[in-house]
Amino acid sequence: MNYRPLGRTGWKVADISFGAWAIGGSWGHVADEDSLAALNKAVDAGVNFLDTADVYGNGRSERLIAQLKKSRREEIIVATKAGRRLPRQTVAGYNRQNLTAWVDDSLRNLACDALDLLQLHCPPSDLYSSPEVFAILDDLVKDGKIRYYGVSVEKIDEALKAIEYPNVQTVQIIFNCFRQRPAELFFPKAKQKQVGILARVPLASGLLTGRLGPQSTFPADDHRNFNRHGESFDVGETFSGVDYKVGLEAVEEIRRLLPAGVSMSQFALCWILMFDAVTCAIPGGKRPEQVVDNCRASDQAPLSATNMDTIRRLYDERIRPMVHHRW
Ligand SMILES: NC(=O)c1ccc[n+]([C@@H]2O[C@H](COP(=O)([O-])OP(=O)(O)OC[C@H]3O[C@@H](n4cnc5c(N)ncnc54)[C@H](OP(=O)(O)O)[C@@H]3O)[C@@H](O)[C@H]2O)c1
Repeated sequence: MNYRPLGRTGWKVADISFGAWAIGGSWGHVADEDSLAALNKAVDAGVNFLDTADVYGNGRSERLIAQLKKSRREEIIVATKAGRRLPRQTVAGYNRQNLTAWVDDSLRNLACDALDLLQLHCPPSDLYSSPEVFAILDDLVKDGKIRYYGVSVEKIDEALKAIEYPNVQTVQIIFNCFRQRPAELFFPKAKQKQVGILARVPLASGLLTGRLGPQSTFPADDHRNFNRHGESFDVGETFSGVDYKVGLEAVEEIRRLLPAGVSMSQFALCWILMFDAVTCAIPGGKRPEQVVDNCRASDQAPLSATNMDTIRRLYDERIRPMVHHRW
């Protein structure tokens, strides 16, 4: 496993870390036993950074992480998120009382005295013009409830505005072979300001693992079923906002590029690690074998220039018209 600096925090985190949404909920049935096995496998492989949120299974994901931390001696840094408990997303909802209550809930779930990294969970765009929210976060740091804070965003504009706030340490954004725009304008700016970048949805909700096909079905409580058209949250969070059929066709083209012994998931994650502005990818994983597969990406050889060009061309021709202008 290789490690990269996380913003200006002084921490170095595994370049392939772990996304803990699926072990909380919204991805069909998951047994806690499997989730704990997956988390333990991640730590065995050298993962020292986990991304979760208060709303993932209403605290379930955070509580599983607390259980993991209790049973392991390694240092494990946890990034959680707040804001999605609001019934309706408004800037006013991100007030001192709510933020403090959400942080207190996460502290209880994670069984710790201070949150390592708190991220605002895709708040409304207007929030980035509200310095008072960031002042509340600064106060939470002063009070010792959180060590650092960052944001999780949907759009590039939000990311660019967020890093104008001097104490924003990290930006979490969708970045993968099917979502390439962050590399254009945002990455150079973030790098300049030493802001950590967490690449989320790195496998396009499983599309880029090459394991899904036209006949794949998803349970009713899996967002790949219930949010296919953005019914519950931003459609970009499901399959990266790419039409399922078009995505599958593009995946078949990527499959032809795989070097011997490299899985599709590893290839997709390696592509992300080719961008040095990225701190880490945070693939989700519900089972230990997925985690093992994904973590191996960290030690793979860099992708060839030809393969990078081909992925770019594939994006420009097939994917870009669907996503580039939206996020
Ligand atoms: N708004 C936000 O802030 C936000 C939104 C989305 C995600 N996130 C964060 O980003 C993390 C990653 O994104 P994501 O979980 O949405 O999507 P993802 O990492 O692109 O896809 C994860 C899914 O792909 C499948 N998978 C993973 N590794 C595999 C492997 N090696 N082989 C085959 N299948 C594999 C698993 O589902 P199946 O086994 O069911 O196919 C897994 O749940 C989340 O866990 C969360 O921490 C944050």
